[in-house]
Amino acid sequence: MELRIENLSKTYPNGVQALKNVSLEISTGMFGLLGPNGAGKSTLMRTLATLQEADSGTAMLGDIDILKDKEGLRRVLGYLPQEFGVYARISAVEMLDHLAVLKGIPANQRKEVVAALLQRVNLWDHRKKAVSSYSGGMRQRFGIAQALLGDPKLIIVDEPTAGLDPGERNRFYNLLSEIGENVIVILSTHIVEDVRELCSNMAIIHNGAVLYAGAPDASMHALEGKVWQKSIQKSEMELQLEQFGNRLISSKLVGGKPLIHVFSETNPGENFKPANAGLEEVFFAKINGVA
Ligand SMILES: Nc1ncnc2c1ncn2[C@@H]1O[C@H](COP(=O)(O)OP(=O)(O)O)[C@@H](O)[C@H]1O
Ligand SMILES: [Mg+2]
Repeated sequence: MELRIENLSKTYPNGVQALKNVSLEISTGMFGLLGPNGAGKSTLMRTLATLQEADSGTAMLGDIDILKDKEGLRRVLGYLPQEFGVYARISAVEMLDHLAVLKGIPANQRKEVVAALLQRVNLWDHRKKAVSSYSGGMRQRFGIAQALLGDPKLIIVDEPTAGLDPGERNRFYNLLSEIGENVIVILSTHIVEDVRELCSNMAIIHNGAVLYAGAPDASMHALEGKVWQKSIQKSEMELQLEQFGNRLISSKLVGGKPLIHVFSETNPGENFKPANAGLEEVFFAKINGVA
C-alpha cells in the first residue's frame, strides 16, 4: 500500500501557516518525518489521522481518500499522539481491553488480541500495573500496543522517543523496526538519531515545507566533500558566525572546545579539514537553507 500526499496546506486561525504545499509519497516501511519543534509535524500527523482538517490538498492511502473518508481511514489506522494522555489508574490489561472495545474488536477475540499485544510490546509481566505507574518507556510501549489494535495498515507515531532514556529508546527502536516490516509507519521526530537508526526513507520539514524527501543515505552522499570542520576557541565563535552565517551548520563541544561544521563547496579557510557528512549535518544544512 502507498500513502500519497499532494499539496497539503493548512493555516491556523491565528495566521500560522503550519503546512505549505506538502507533497510526499510513502510506501511500506519506516518513514521518518524529521523537523525542529514547530515545523508542522504534529499538524501533518493529526491531519493524516483525520483529527484535523486541511485547507487544501489531498491524501490517499491506497484507494482511501483520507480527507473525505474518515471512517474508512480510521479502520486501518493506528495512532500514537505526541501527548498520549491516557495515564489511567486502571491496569494496563483493563485499559487495553477498553480501547479494544472502542476499536470495535469483537468480544470473542478481545482477550486473545489484548494478551498478544501486551506480550509483543513486552508488558505482559506488568499487565496488572496501572498505566499511570509506568515509566516513560513503558508508557510509550503501551501506546504502541494500543496503536496496533485492529491490525492497522498505517501507523502514525508522533515524537515517540522524546523523554526516553537510552535503554528505553533502544527497546522502543527494536519494537518499531519490527512493526515497520509489513505496514507503513510514519515516525515524527526532532531527534536525528531516530531517523538514522530506524528509517529507510525520510522527509525533512521546516516551517511547514518539505525541504528534502528521500533516503537518508542519498542525502548524506549529496553533501560529501562539502562539509568542513575546525576546532576553535569559544571566544572565536562570534567571529565565525559573522563570517559564515547560515553556512555554519553546527557546533558541538569536544573536550570543552567548539568544533564547528561549515557547509562549503570548497575549503572555507585556514585550519579547516574535510568532515563526514552525517545526517545531523544534512539536517542543519537543510534547515539553514544552504544545501
Ligand atoms: N491549534 C493551533 N493553533 C494555532 N497554531 C498552532 C496550533 N497547533 C500548532 N500551531 C502552530 O503551528 C506550527 C506547527 O506546529 P506543530 O504542527 O505542532 O509542529 P511540530 O509538531 O513540528 O512541533 C507551530 O508554529 C505551532 O505553534
Ligand atoms: Mg509536534
